[in-house]
Amino acid sequence: MKIFKSKHKLKEEISNIENISFVPTMGGLHKGHISLIKKSQNFKGKTLVSIFVNPKQFNEKKDFLNYPRNLKKDLRILKHLNVDLIYLPGLKDIFSFQVKNKIFLDKFSKKLCGKSRKGHFKGVLNIVNRFLELIKPKYIFLGIKDFQQSYLISRHIVKREINTKVINCKTIREKNGIACSTRNNNLNKYQLKIASNVIKYLKNKKKLIKKKLSNFKFVNIKKDLINLGVKKIDYVELYNLNTLKRPKSKREKFKIFIAFYLNKTRLIDNI
Ligand code: PAF
Repeated sequence: MKIFKSKHKLKEEISNIENISFVPTMGGLHKGHISLIKKSQNFKGKTLVSIFVNPKQFNEKKDFLNYPRNLKKDLRILKHLNVDLIYLPGLKDIFSFQVKNKIFLDKFSKKLCGKSRKGHFKGVLNIVNRFLELIKPKYIFLGIKDFQQSYLISRHIVKREINTKVINCKTIREKNGIACSTRNNNLNKYQLKIASNVIKYLKNKKKLIKKKLSNFKFVNIKKDLINLGVKKIDYVELYNLNTLKRPKSKREKFKIFIAFYLNKTRLIDNI
């Protein structure tokens, strides 16, 4: 396992590597990240994992400061997984160069998390665009728990004709149903129980909506979620993943997208 803190040293190292499978992370590694890494290791070539808590994608400074970090543990996990290359840039290393490609922000960035987290996706694309330019990976591995993020990165890649393929990976869940997320580290036992009940509730709701789409009433769902102990809901919405519109018929394949708060911790999921 080779660790790089400088983009110049990293570029030197990878200049002769043809196939790089890239897994970008903000650390706080969990089973979801491990599954992305393992998947990337099934591809020919080398796996490169980055760890960088990107301040530009946090719309609140407090949220950035409270984001769970544990580099020592992360490096232990990566070593155990036998990851080839690790990139741990500092702020200056990653933001100090001029990029070739301008960020392309698809209009879907205005929906869901885009409404409540101003500047978030611009910040995500800023950093991912930089990583893509430096690393030129053949593949980038992204989890569909962050469906909107993955979609917007794909749109940027296509629009800017970048030679990288997005590999979307399924959401990994804990036994209690909640999606693995670094932010779960900020939840206490009681909040974890509420989060688990929210997921159970939404799974059940989805079954009912599939039977009769017209039964879906945002107001009722929001009320039920508050009764379950949720503090605040940014959104609960249905989207057809192909059309990115609200489904009109129960035959359409759709998901329920949610962003909610348990105390100060904001969680997202799609079911
Ligand atoms: O999903 C994440 O952890 C981040 O948004 C990413 C893709 C690493 C960019 O900072």
